[in-house]
Amino acid sequence: MKKITKAVFPVGGMGTRFLPATKSIPKEMLPIIDKPLIQYAVEEAIAAGITTLIFITSASKHAISDHFDPKPLLRKKFDSEGKQHLLDKLTTIPSGITRVFIPQGEPLGLGHAVLQAKDIIGDEYFSVILADDFIKPGGDNPTKQLIDAAIENSASVISVEEVPDDRVSQYGIADINNNGSDVNVIETIVEKPALEDAPSNLGVIGRYVLSPEVFGLLEDTQSDKGGEIQLTDALAMLLNKPDNLYAATLKGKRYDCGHKLGYIQATIDCALDDGDISADVTQFIQSLTKNV
Ligand code: G1P
Repeated sequence: MKKITKAVFPVGGMGTRFLPATKSIPKEMLPIIDKPLIQYAVEEAIAAGITTLIFITSASKHAISDHFDPKPLLRKKFDSEGKQHLLDKLTTIPSGITRVFIPQGEPLGLGHAVLQAKDIIGDEYFSVILADDFIKPGGDNPTKQLIDAAIENSASVISVEEVPDDRVSQYGIADINNNGSDVNVIETIVEKPALEDAPSNLGVIGRYVLSPEVFGLLEDTQSDKGGEIQLTDALAMLLNKPDNLYAATLKGKRYDCGHKLGYIQATIDCALDDGDISADVTQFIQSLTKNV
């Protein structure tokens, strides 16, 4: 297998759970403390060896391309003023990394978004990263874990973790043939099942490394009741061949920042780890909870 060097970031979603904040910016630009979700995701990808970043955007939102713009005039100003710490903060992407922006056109679902990257990806395995699934940096790199497992098994691999019963209907759910290790063959996968229909509690997390075979399957995938093409439905078709799709158990700490609660939890967790503010934040939370 060729090296896996391309990652797709679907960022054209409507972000309805975060309106009105998402009227003019994608939800992936919401910050955890001072860094947008998309930047954490890009840093994870680059640390895993990705060198081409493909953003599937919605035409009216330019905030993500602006965020990764080198901003030469501002750099020059900070440079002439000797403000190295600000220059460092402006460097949102290292040199040598290619950025590609593809408008999704219509918001027709995650599968449709991934399909837009077909021509740029070509005949290679590639990664898909959903930035609103925030995985706290500092632990094992989840994208690297998937890349290693895909190379080892010559197959597509996706991230999973157990989710509570009341969240099962919010995620893709997979059932595995558990061999006792972290990487297992998937036996069934279904998008957002009702709890009573779910094959397990293993939720699909927004990290995937996929074979280019997926593009053909996405082209054959029917829209769901809501008119969306689901990536999970194409992944289910991968199961027509044996040992073609694996699940890797997520090792990191993940927050679903597509929901308000997950976003606030991620913010508090990171604030308690941020040397500049952690002591004050701890004191503040204690003061709030004293009389509860
Ligand atoms: C998408 C996928 C779902 C997956 C989830 C992870 O859903 O369709 O299978 O479990 O991401 O966050 P969405 O969050 O876009 O509704």
